[in-house]
Amino acid sequence: MLDTTIIPTTAPDLSGVRQYFPSFEQQINGRPIVFFDNPGGTQVPQQVIEAMGEYMLYANANTHGAFVTSQRTDLIIDEARAAMADLLNCDAGEIVFGPNMTTLAFAVSRAIARDLHAGDEIVVTTLDHDANIAPWRAIAADNELVVRQVDIDPATCTLRMDELRAAITDRTKIVAVGYASNAVGTINDVATIVKWAHEAGALAWIDAVQYAPHGPIDVAALDCDFLTCSAYKFFGPHLGILYGKRERLAALRPYKVRPASDAVPDRFETGTLPHELLAGLLGAVDYLSLIGNVYANAGPEVASGYSGRRRVLKIAMGAILAYERTLSQYLLTALSMVPRSTLYGLKSPTQVDRRVPTVALTIAGTTPRALAEALANAGICAWDGNYYALELMERLGLEPDGALRLGLAHYNTTEEIDRCVQVLNEVARA
Ligand SMILES: Cc1ncc(COP(=O)(O)O)c(C=O)c1O
Repeated sequence: MLDTTIIPTTAPDLSGVRQYFPSFEQQINGRPIVFFDNPGGTQVPQQVIEAMGEYMLYANANTHGAFVTSQRTDLIIDEARAAMADLLNCDAGEIVFGPNMTTLAFAVSRAIARDLHAGDEIVVTTLDHDANIAPWRAIAADNELVVRQVDIDPATCTLRMDELRAAITDRTKIVAVGYASNAVGTINDVATIVKWAHEAGALAWIDAVQYAPHGPIDVAALDCDFLTCSAYKFFGPHLGILYGKRERLAALRPYKVRPASDAVPDRFETGTLPHELLAGLLGAVDYLSLIGNVYANAGPEVASGYSGRRRVLKIAMGAILAYERTLSQYLLTALSMVPRSTLYGLKSPTQVDRRVPTVALTIAGTTPRALAEALANAGICAWDGNYYALELMERLGLEPDGALRLGLAHYNTTEEIDRCVQVLNEVARA
């Protein structure tokens, strides 16, 4: 379901983007800081910082007032919705904002549950972050629903698609699946999964939190019913976003206070929105547009199905995808030479089109925490543990320590990978 015309055939040089990220100027123990903790949250460009500051200075107010700052706030909310609609290729009225993906998933799943009945089934997967498992298990427990959890092939950390196909039956009401794994980086064939869900009359819910910073998303082409992401994973502030097909949002009855608007999507946005974060989200989309504009003249055939900012953003995400594949290749090759290490998931540098540059690994004789500490001493930020991919870590036999996670983004470089692998080699040989 990927528009291949937006992926450059030669890897684009994205080194220029680093100038936009002031946080890269930090030094730790005399060396530039390295951010490999991106699956937990990315750094923000100057555009985001400025947009949030400007909101606080010139527009700080509540909504729908007769005065200027309130009107500016209304405008920023509308613009943020339009920007997200351009990024995901949907209507602005299909974008719902919330504090984070998890809160949105709990709230909307509860609204969905109002129309479900005992014995109805939900399909989830072992590969998912718990934010795309726990909300479904919770409504199942409250409403006597059945949850079917689809397993992975532990050798590759890919979904067992035959098992998934068999789990979807005419009793299935929701299929909840991740776009990309936050632990091992696997990209799922979500287009096929959406098709299977719809053939059975079920809703397709995609958790795109980990895919969003790495590649283009087109909810219209995917035809999913719901898709979630979090702005803080794609260079914006800490904010959750839900796409819902207009007719699906209209059919639901969310829990809300009485005087608040009953219009879609407002009725899903309980209480006051984090306006300054919405301004920051606009800054993140501006930053991505800047990348897209560099490549927008690559030829008239590029992203021909889109126009305006949608086209520019698709091109930006295509450039990011192409560059990150070279990072993944470099990383996988370098890690394969670290003594006593085990890499989980798709390991071959030839499989980088099936993964994002997020890898989980362990080194025999030491703990993931000790590895993260050694990296931290060298100024490299990386996570250890289960990162809420609890079912996966249990399936791989890695609980309670989990694994070390190296999660790269388009602003990372091969030099940073070298620095990281050098530390891992030193620990492994010690
Ligand atoms: C795949 C995935 N889904 C959901 C979440 C939860 O996102 P949020 O922090 O916005 O609730 C995360 C957070 O790491 C994630 O990686």
